[in-house]
Amino acid sequence: MAQVPPRRRRRALAGASGGAASSAPPSARFPGVAIFLAEPRMGRSRRAFLTRLALSKGFSVLDIFSPEVTHVVMEHTSAAEAAAWQERHAASAAPGWTCPTLLDVSWFTESMAAGQPVPVEQRHHLQEVLEHGACEEVEQVRRSERYRAMKLFTQMFGVGVKTADRWYQEGLRTLDDLRTRPQRLTQQQQAGLQHHRDLAIPVQQQEAQALQRLVEAAVGQALPGATVTLTGGFRRGKLQGHDVDLLLTHPQEGREAGLLPRVLTLLQRQGLLLYQLYQRSHLGDAAHRARRSHTIDLFERSFCIFRLPLPPETAVGGAQGLWRAVRVDLVVSPISQFPFALLGWTGSKHFERELRRFSRKEKGLRLSSHALSDPEQERSFPAVSEEDIFRHLGLEYLPPEQRNA
Ligand code: UTP
Ligand code: MN
Repeated sequence: MAQVPPRRRRRALAGASGGAASSAPPSARFPGVAIFLAEPRMGRSRRAFLTRLALSKGFSVLDIFSPEVTHVVMEHTSAAEAAAWQERHAASAAPGWTCPTLLDVSWFTESMAAGQPVPVEQRHHLQEVLEHGACEEVEQVRRSERYRAMKLFTQMFGVGVKTADRWYQEGLRTLDDLRTRPQRLTQQQQAGLQHHRDLAIPVQQQEAQALQRLVEAAVGQALPGATVTLTGGFRRGKLQGHDVDLLLTHPQEGREAGLLPRVLTLLQRQGLLLYQLYQRSHLGDAAHRARRSHTIDLFERSFCIFRLPLPPETAVGGAQGLWRAVRVDLVVSPISQFPFALLGWTGSKHFERELRRFSRKEKGLRLSSHALSDPEQERSFPAVSEEDIFRHLGLEYLPPEQRNA
């Protein structure tokens, strides 16, 4: 995902008075605006210059592209290059991610002249060109070998853009190419490859519910009273999804400790797990907390591939016999953080980003999947429900079905 090779990045940093440009947004005068200067045509020194200029005027400029970025600025960029840039980031992003509008450098220069961000107008949109583009250049990029390979690889379980790019550089193009060198794949990638056909088929609502029941049974056996909540797109009422997101907790704080490994053992014994990657909780890990980006949470979790038994009448499409593989994320939250975890994991990604931005910009509060807190007073607001969180933010409650933005 890094746009600028490390050496250049250091230079850009050094050039940016006091190294203020970093992957974390510095305190800026315009908290709702985080600029990323995309470099394809801009050149390194021009980029460093524009960065310094914006920083001196109190703007936040991010050196590395991340979900925090709100304004992507390009200069002298053709439709094809802009499309390629966008495709590359879309391919590497988590599902549901929406790219911020790509802006022409005119928005940037006008904002610098005004000493504040000017409203984005149509004429600033690079995308204008792209959307109206039955443009041959763009079509070529979309069809290109690289685009196809990157898309295929980055959609695989356990493959990010760095790996996909390396494989492409090594001449790999297809899943069959990958199959010829299993020793080069992580176990997670091998599992993704092995079950690729099933995982590419959307999960249906009924399948998500069936999976929830299976997990509930194991959870009930491992720890009576513990609960399993369906989150993600299915909680928002979507009929299909790429995975199933389940949030586990127990009404008594602390009782959830040790639950997930026991549940995984039970599921394994029942033959319901094709693969799982366990990640312990980082909640108590201060160093980890300081390092993390605000968008990644610290909960204990397991990235699973389930072997979902299918009733014969629904065994269509990718079902091999009487079961199919389904991606499932199991996440554990202590009850004190549950409403925040639920809100964070229900999505959509776009909604979450807007809500966090609203909290920061309008309320000066930091919203995460763990808490809503006041950075100055170091106070966090207790909540026993999602409604409480909306209330603290001075917003009317939005039911999950209305968070599909
Ligand atoms: P998903 O990526 O599963 O998206 O993340 P989705 O909306 O369910 O859509 P599908 O699965 O592609 O159909 C669900 C929510 O969980 C959050 C995301 O931000 C999103 O809001 N999430 C996901 C996290 O908070 N942490 C993660 O590690 C992954
Ligand atoms: Mn999901």
